[in-house]
Amino acid sequence: MITIKTDAEIACMRESGRLTKNVLDLIGREIRIGMTTKDLDRLACEYIRSCGAEPSFLGYSGYPASICASIDSMVVHGIPSDNEVIKDGQIVSVDVGVVYNGWQGDAARTFMVGNVSEEKRKLVKVTEECFFKAIENLRDGTPLGDIGYHVQSHAESNGFSVVRALVGHGIGREMHEDPSVPNYGRKGTGIRLKKGMAIAIEPMINAGVYQVDFLSDGWGVVTRDRKPSAHYENTVVITDSGVEILTL
Ligand code: MF3
Ligand code: CO
Repeated sequence: MITIKTDAEIACMRESGRLTKNVLDLIGREIRIGMTTKDLDRLACEYIRSCGAEPSFLGYSGYPASICASIDSMVVHGIPSDNEVIKDGQIVSVDVGVVYNGWQGDAARTFMVGNVSEEKRKLVKVTEECFFKAIENLRDGTPLGDIGYHVQSHAESNGFSVVRALVGHGIGREMHEDPSVPNYGRKGTGIRLKKGMAIAIEPMINAGVYQVDFLSDGWGVVTRDRKPSAHYENTVVITDSGVEILTL
């Protein structure tokens, strides 16, 4: 079921969105070579709780941490670990969800650590651009398929590929609500977005093939060719004239 948010509810989502963004800003300031992904997780969890909020990922379908930290060929859902040390030249996708006063925020960034290769730099840049291309003409009445169309066109015209096995989603009181928001698709297709719908748009873009493998830990998703992948996500709400980004 797709829920339409009232102005008062959007005001609540603005608060959880702001906290979500703050977590990613904090991680962006603190991330460095030699830290472990578990260090990042602790940082996020402590910050979220200090704000009177809860990390929404923790315990979600049994997920054991507050963030996902996905390095290089890991697309998403990397479980933070004390044994995973961040190294020079890696790209680290950090995904975080916050619930505050009953409302969810969900966002991700891909951080470049140290001396990052030209290919990875371009991948990170294009993945961010994919999100902004997707929202460029988004407003009340836009067909959902336009989002995927714009993400896919931008990724593929830069020689990259779009992950199909995972998609964005509606968001509100629940982290995952309808509709599904694929990062591929045809212009003019699908339901029409309406004012008051909130969605998480999250391009996952691979340097090589689009296919992914699921790890035996039940969570991790890696590129089949083990080439790098980047992730960028914001929670947005549809307005009359465009979108409001709640996590930026
Ligand atoms: N942001 C992700 C999503 O949109 C993360 C959910 S993973 C879990 O689906 F850790 F919460 F399970
Ligand atoms: Co999401």
